[in-house]
Amino acid sequence: MTRPPVDVCRTLTELRATLADWRAQGLRIGFVPTMGALHEGHLSLVHHALQNADRVVASIFVNPTQFAAHEDLDTYPRTEETDLAAFRDAGCHLAYCPDPMEMYPPGEETRVKVPTLGARLEGEFRPHFFGGVATVVTRLFIHVMPDLAVCGEKDFQQVAIIRRMTRDLGFPIDILAAPTVREASGLAMSSRNAYLTADQRRAAPALFASLHRAALRIRAGTAVSVAMAEAYIALDQAGFQKIDYLAACAPDTLLPLPLGPLAPDTPARLLGAAWLGKTRLIDNFGV
Ligand code: PAF
Repeated sequence: MTRPPVDVCRTLTELRATLADWRAQGLRIGFVPTMGALHEGHLSLVHHALQNADRVVASIFVNPTQFAAHEDLDTYPRTEETDLAAFRDAGCHLAYCPDPMEMYPPGEETRVKVPTLGARLEGEFRPHFFGGVATVVTRLFIHVMPDLAVCGEKDFQQVAIIRRMTRDLGFPIDILAAPTVREASGLAMSSRNAYLTADQRRAAPALFASLHRAALRIRAGTAVSVAMAEAYIALDQAGFQKIDYLAACAPDTLLPLPLGPLAPDTPARLLGAAWLGKTRLIDNFGV
């Protein structure tokens, strides 16, 4: 039996009318923000939201403020029709696909920044990025006013930023992080994987494999600096042309860990960003 299409709101007025009705019924609302070009990873976020809420709203908005001028805003995959069918099949109740004017009304200028956490790792290489994410997520939170939001751990630093701004701004929203969904090769699912050539696709799982191996080595007592240097060599040998960073960090602050062996029970996260041709991949793994 085919399900009916998912309801779509494109304006804040329409969205608020539907949500007011759900709220009046005392329903708990879950929210999944996306930029579309959906894959299994996004749908797992919807499943997580469904397990924790009565109604799930998912947004599709390719947010211009998180792209630098030289990045792929114009070519970012836009596949709304198939995305809406995927949301419907995943059991999502409402899709919010705001008109750009709803998110960035004429004359708008307000920005949200998480300056310290946002300057580390990704922030060093994409200085505009987290300001754009924090701004659009703040606006989406205010539009949807969900009880909970689900974000993917694939973007580990993004989840940390969203948690920080949620606490700082006092949003009454629980932030849940869903584990990264991977292909059989270990490659983390990402909308940007669509850019990879066949050869690059074969090389891409090395990012996960090198972080995974480094995590095992650190857990077994190898010095952090040695394990991370090995990961660097493995990525280089796999054909990654440029490595922006490979870092071993404290999971909440994303500050670097000491270089020696990790003291028992120290929480740690390994994060990496590297290039295959013109495609930049990121991934992370818990120690
Ligand atoms: O992770 C993403 O797809 C985006 O950064 C987000 C959170 C939807 C904000 O545009």
